[in-house]
Amino acid sequence: MKGNFDHFMKKEIHEQPDAIQQTMRGRVVFDADGNVQRVFLGGMVDYLSTIRRSRRIILCGCGTSYNSAIAVRQLMEELTELPVTLELASDVLDRQCPFFRDDSIIFISQSGETADTLRALEYAKSKGALCIGIVNVVGSAISRATDCGLHINAGAEIGVASTKAYTCQITSMVLLALALSEDSRSRADRRMDIMRGVVTLPDTMRRALELDQKMLALARTLVDENSLLLFGRGYNYATALEGALKVKEVALLHSEGILAGEMKHGPLALVDETLPLVVIATRDSSYLKQKSVIEQLRARDARCILIVSEDDDSLDKFASNEDMIIKVPEVCDCLQPLINIVPLQLLSYHLTVLRGHNVDQPRNLAKSVTVE
Ligand code: UD1
Ligand code: BG6
Repeated sequence: MKGNFDHFMKKEIHEQPDAIQQTMRGRVVFDADGNVQRVFLGGMVDYLSTIRRSRRIILCGCGTSYNSAIAVRQLMEELTELPVTLELASDVLDRQCPFFRDDSIIFISQSGETADTLRALEYAKSKGALCIGIVNVVGSAISRATDCGLHINAGAEIGVASTKAYTCQITSMVLLALALSEDSRSRADRRMDIMRGVVTLPDTMRRALELDQKMLALARTLVDENSLLLFGRGYNYATALEGALKVKEVALLHSEGILAGEMKHGPLALVDETLPLVVIATRDSSYLKQKSVIEQLRARDARCILIVSEDDDSLDKFASNEDMIIKVPEVCDCLQPLINIVPLQLLSYHLTVLRGHNVDQPRNLAKSVTVE
């Protein structure tokens, strides 16, 4: 079952290129010359116009599934021109959120059985909203109870820490955002750029997985730390949150993902020459702002680990040594979180093994939380 891998988590991290291929299979349509043409979502065709007419789109889930919602929010807003808001499922229930008949609510869940997400779905149905599922397990409660949806087709995920489901959830929602904007001529070029990027994802991800030994070397330098902060913004705010969640849930090391724009509003007080920090600064519209964050951190002698685009040497001088600069292959800006999370998944895996903790069954956690 684990094949050549010591743990399911490692196997599932390395399965991501194939899993994403499965997510795309039959949904990305090519012309006779093999050029990507459009996205076709069989299970969604009857519902796309209703979603386009809705007052807003709400993305709802827990844990890693919620982080995947953060990763696609910006693109979904851009392509649909609708307000897109995010809700943690437990908070929907605690607040008894105002949901309406003309809302489209997307419920994201690997297992399709998480109690809070299922209860939030039942609540949304009682308010008459259109309910859409992004689910891995076919036949699960959330898959059955939603009006329509997309199975992410990632294959069984056994490790409690979600890895391949995260990247397949993002891929599925990118496809949904593309399908929702198909009527828009003004966005045709942007859509084509993204679709071309999507079809290259499996290969790009394979190249990112080659960072495995580099991340092991980095993990060795961090093994005795008590805390790790990760700074991201824009498309990669989710990467900071999800990287931190991986590190805390499996390596049992305190870690926080921080929106870099909030750095001066509190987190900067923690920065000194000892605390390790990860800054995600791949090339996109946030790049110059992230460069300025790095300069400010280095001015305080911070220990910066930098995730940068592979052909970008301009930030090398800000890393304390060559272990601290991680170069990732570049894709279309909105797809970059799918690549940037890979070294962080590998880092959390190696940290866990080096610290002697249980990789696939972290202390106190369950794969599927079926009680509120
Ligand atoms: C479907 C088949 C797939 C087949 C393909 C061929 C299933 C489960 N999938 O995939 O095996 O290769 O047609 O055209 O039989 N749904 C929900 N909620 C969810 C997820 C899905 O209601 O959370 C609904 C969808 O709206 C759809 C059905 O379940 O009606 C199947 O969804 P999905 O597997 O994503 O559809 P296809 O990709 O068309
Ligand atoms: C649990 C898992 O907390 O539930 C997480 O340990 C997961 O990995 C979360 O992200 C949500 O689960 P699901 O199945 O609804 O995506």
